Amino acid sequence: MVANGQPHLEQCILVTGGAGYIGSHTALQLLLDGYTVVIVDNFDNSCEEALQRVVELAGKNGKNLIFYQVDLCNKDAVENVFASHHFDAVVHFAGLKAVGESVAKPLLYYLNNVNGTLNLLEIMSSYGCKKLVFSSSATVYGQPKSVPCTEDFPLQAMNPYGRTKLFVEDIMRDLHKADPEWRTILLRYFNPVGAHPSGRIGEDPRGIPNNLMPYVQQVAVGRRSELSVFGSDYNTRDGTGVRDYIHVQDLATGHSAALFKLFTTPNIGCTVYNLGTGKGTSVLEMVAAFEKAAQMKIPLRIMDRRPGDCSEVYAATEKAEKELGWKAQNGIEEMCRDQWNWASKNPFGYQPSHADGKESKPVCNGGHDLKISNGAAAT
Ligand code: NAD
Ligand code: WQD
Repeated sequence: MVANGQPHLEQCILVTGGAGYIGSHTALQLLLDGYTVVIVDNFDNSCEEALQRVVELAGKNGKNLIFYQVDLCNKDAVENVFASHHFDAVVHFAGLKAVGESVAKPLLYYLNNVNGTLNLLEIMSSYGCKKLVFSSSATVYGQPKSVPCTEDFPLQAMNPYGRTKLFVEDIMRDLHKADPEWRTILLRYFNPVGAHPSGRIGEDPRGIPNNLMPYVQQVAVGRRSELSVFGSDYNTRDGTGVRDYIHVQDLATGHSAALFKLFTTPNIGCTVYNLGTGKGTSVLEMVAAFEKAAQMKIPLRIMDRRPGDCSEVYAATEKAEKELGWKAQNGIEEMCRDQWNWASKNPFGYQPSHADGKESKPVCNGGHDLKISNGAAAT
């Protein structure tokens, strides 16, 4: 299981994008593990309320979270953060992730995801911080010829978003060749779903959700009328697409295990691990599991296939199990239980209400000891 519980109280981890969905769950895990956690996020797709709740959930360790509202594209501001802290490693989540938007705005995606990462890597290098865990994605397998996907499958980007992941993976491989002091773990997540079991933090997408479970959740709370099921004629058990859904809590412990591996393996080089469960679930199976958890019917409409979608994708998990000592613990029942717990307690995500249909600014409950600063203050 997870290599937690080691004494690393003195270690300080920079978490980029730590206010976001996966970042907030991972930051909480790292605080509970005993790390000091410094988050930089520009709140492009997140808000301060998520961080307040992370502090609350971390209990006495909440005081070890420090936050800077900084954009990775602002190199001076990132440098100021490095000038103020000694980082033992970086977990790099910050990035834009909407596939459709990346097709419409490729330059935005290359600038934000690739340039932002280049800024970070240059500054890490100049401060001698050469340990990185990077959020890659199963999207780099493109349309895999077979399943399960092993880490050595050929790589292929299907859209600009996927290409940014592939570019950064290649940059890390080149960097390690040029400077073997770098230790990098590239984590290829499959389909993250679910929320913290407390129901206090979870996924809060802006606008119309692109992904299956956030959409299902919004139908369940009455924000959308029905779910469109994209394709029922795939060569799968029930004709709908099959994916490897993984509980966000398992992803969080996967990062904890990856960091431990980085610290304890001088010759790790630049190594890739899939983070998935190894099990495929169809759209209809996932909806049925959610209906059971929420005790309600989700209205469905069968539509045409979504362009670019594969029929079936799931992970080979042996490498992560063997080398990271990590294995996903939760099945779709727990994923749907926790997704519904979050949704029912926070029907409008971190926003208090959405009564007039307008986006309102997230409000901070306050009262917790969250040290918030901006990049300038770090000088
Ligand atoms: P998210 O949007 O919830 O979190 C990303 C965070 O990064 C947000 O808080 C956003 O404000 C911040 N951010 C974006 N650009 C930034 C910048 N230039 N400077 C500072 N902060 C910036 O997304 P997530 O689902 O938590 O995903 C985290 C990472 O994992 C992303 O890199 C994503 O591509 C990757 N990933 C996500 C999935 C998924 O389905 N959620 C799957 C595979 C990989
Ligand atoms: C899952 C299944 C859809 C929505 C995407 C990105 C990938 C990665 C994870 C970041 C598919 C079906 C969906 C809906 C539906 N993200 N579906 N109705 O496409 O596997 O992967 O998120 O790296 O890069 O491409 O996830 O949740 O969009 O779809 O029927 O409204 O649900 O067709 O079969 P996907 P998804």
